Amino acid sequence: MPANLVVGAQWGDEGKAKVIDYLSKDTDIIVRYQGGANAGHTVVVGGKKYVFHLVPSGIIYDNTVCVIGNGVVLDPDYFLQECAELEKSGFRVSEKILISDSCHILLPYHRMIDEARELGSSPERKIGTTKKGIGMCYADKMLRMGLRAGDLLDKEGLKKKLEHILDVKNQELVKYYDLEPVRFDEIYPNLLHFAERMGKNIINTIYYLNSELEKGKRILLEGAQGTGLDIDFGTYPYVTSSNPTTGGALAGSGVNFRHLKDVIGITKAYATRVGEGPFPSEILGEAGDVLRKLGGEYGSTTGRPRRCGWFDVEMIKHSITVNGINSLVLTKIDVLSHYESIPVVIGYELKGKRLDHFPSQGLEDVKPVFADFKGWKDDISGICDFAKLPPTCQSYINKLQELVGTKIGIVSTGPDREHTIIMK
Ligand code: IMP
Repeated sequence: MPANLVVGAQWGDEGKAKVIDYLSKDTDIIVRYQGGANAGHTVVVGGKKYVFHLVPSGIIYDNTVCVIGNGVVLDPDYFLQECAELEKSGFRVSEKILISDSCHILLPYHRMIDEARELGSSPERKIGTTKKGIGMCYADKMLRMGLRAGDLLDKEGLKKKLEHILDVKNQELVKYYDLEPVRFDEIYPNLLHFAERMGKNIINTIYYLNSELEKGKRILLEGAQGTGLDIDFGTYPYVTSSNPTTGGALAGSGVNFRHLKDVIGITKAYATRVGEGPFPSEILGEAGDVLRKLGGEYGSTTGRPRRCGWFDVEMIKHSITVNGINSLVLTKIDVLSHYESIPVVIGYELKGKRLDHFPSQGLEDVKPVFADFKGWKDDISGICDFAKLPPTCQSYINKLQELVGTKIGIVSTGPDREHTIIMK
């Protein structure tokens, strides 16, 4: 059976969790393949809101197994805290979750360095990270200075590895960042505690996933963040330190690419981004505040106000290209009900010349080209039938589909599971 992928087509926060929630009923295994506790996935079920950071949102289903893939950076403290909260709400997390023995462990010094770098950066170099240590943990992975979940299963081996790593890291903390060193006798027992709690859940998920696919199980790969934040395809350096895109889904799960069927790109009917970096369709000033308020656009991990902008066709076309998206989900269309007319970015100009694709450099210098579409003032929240949408709303959706050149398969008209239109 196939694996399907849900990928963010903008700068994250597109509403992926709602789509994953919707698709989970036809899924046996859900895999998080990159990122870490920087993500914030919100699901509303029966009016109750759940926010997930590290645990895949599919945990709320009895029928699904959830996997933390090898591409994730796992913060054990954060993870146990999130599990405890979910278990309090009645979800059987530890019975249903598997952790890749190859995923990297995020440690306190990663968070400390992330924060120190952000605080010490000049305004023009600041990334605006979530300060969860994500970039630092991935940097150590690449430097081959990381600890992996599988290492926690061997007490003596872990001791040696951790001693060596802390030796190097403490020099960096003290000499380079002017920070306090971290203590082996605090970190080691913490890791042993994690291994005691979750050790039986740590397995080789790469073989598990491929063999389950061979047996006919259905897998959903759950991306965090989005294409605009991809370390290779995003607005570097204002990106996260992983690949939320299709290549990252394969590398971060080990799922053989021949199993991959649908790549479902999620986009809001407008756009948002958190943190620094170029954003051509951004709405500045009070008009931006209005959309932020209408859409409730505040980060679910950091609480920061999200920057708001209009739908950007070039950005979505870029996402379709690099991900191989064959179907789109348009979320939060109900938020736009306020507007008489809705601007959409249909292209970019640089020095008076129209660009023919999303640039890998100099996005801050492009001039967006806008087209205006007629809005609708009627409240459309919760509508589940395309034919019941006001004609101008139908035509907005059809027009976006035409401009990006890929079918919109699902439209979301509200936060709840039922507020969903399946397009014919
Ligand atoms: P980091 O991932 O914490 O290193 O942050 C790098 C950039 O990615 C910053 O601009 C963050 O605001 C952004 N970012 C990270 N995770 C998310 C997310 O889940 N949604 C939206 N933006 C995110």
